[in-house]
Amino acid sequence: MKNTIITLQRQKSCGDKITMLTVYDYSTAKLMSESGVEVFLVGDSLGNTMLGYPNTLSVTMEDMIHHCRAVARGAGGALVVCDMPFMSYQTSVCDAVANAGRLVKEGGAAAVKLEGGACFAPHIRAITEASIPVMAHLGLTPQSVNAFGGFTVRGKDEASGARLLDDAKAIEEAGAFSLVLECVPAPLAALVTEILAIPTIGIGAGNATDGQVLVYQDMLAMYGGKSPKFAKVFADAGALMKEGFAAYITETKNGAFPAEEHGFPIDKDVMNALRGYAGRESGNQEAKETAAT
Ligand code: KIV
Repeated sequence: MKNTIITLQRQKSCGDKITMLTVYDYSTAKLMSESGVEVFLVGDSLGNTMLGYPNTLSVTMEDMIHHCRAVARGAGGALVVCDMPFMSYQTSVCDAVANAGRLVKEGGAAAVKLEGGACFAPHIRAITEASIPVMAHLGLTPQSVNAFGGFTVRGKDEASGARLLDDAKAIEEAGAFSLVLECVPAPLAALVTEILAIPTIGIGAGNATDGQVLVYQDMLAMYGGKSPKFAKVFADAGALMKEGFAAYITETKNGAFPAEEHGFPIDKDVMNALRGYAGRESGNQEAKETAAT
């Protein structure tokens, strides 16, 4: 059974928490799908996690399509949501619809996500009217890192909290099917969740939201211990991977790997003939002399 935007709406209605994780490639998508993760976010955080950029601003449509296509192939029943990268929708409503369409047609996404509030209501409405479901994203919106002057918690004072509430209502009215709340004080995220009919998905926004999302490298400690405050480490895959890499190096250096069971046999007579052909047979003087010249 494929999860859809209807599944998420039902989950909100019956209080079944939505589980979403970022994912950027086929083999990880398969593992997550087999584990039962319900929503896959092909986040533009792939700029940091996969491409090594300091932020998400350099990520292109081609990057997103490339990774989304791989994830879609391994997604199983998960709902695949793909981020719209910086400047793929801010430029105009028309660009927003065209680029959202590319993420669906070329990337295999079932929905798109974009950052921003009331200013982007026309974009959300137009994309939704083109039959592409939109997940909105408020609070700390990483594409605004330069405008914010850094990555900080949003909505802590009355003015910015009220703006966040207005933005949340505006994106719902525009037709967004869900809302990500990133780095928002937990009581404010709870209030947004209470006033909206659509499901909220939190990251650093407490546990009253309708679901949670994490960057998978953070929850698996794949950053050498540099996970953000809100990201709980659920398994130390980073340490396990390093252990595996170190064992591979040791065994390759000392000759323990590959062992006989990792190789392919050949008939002894065939091998003897080949040794002769290569001039390596002990009695083959002529071949030895040829090899020496
Ligand atoms: O790109 C991303 O990973 C995200 C999550 C942090 C929600 O937008």
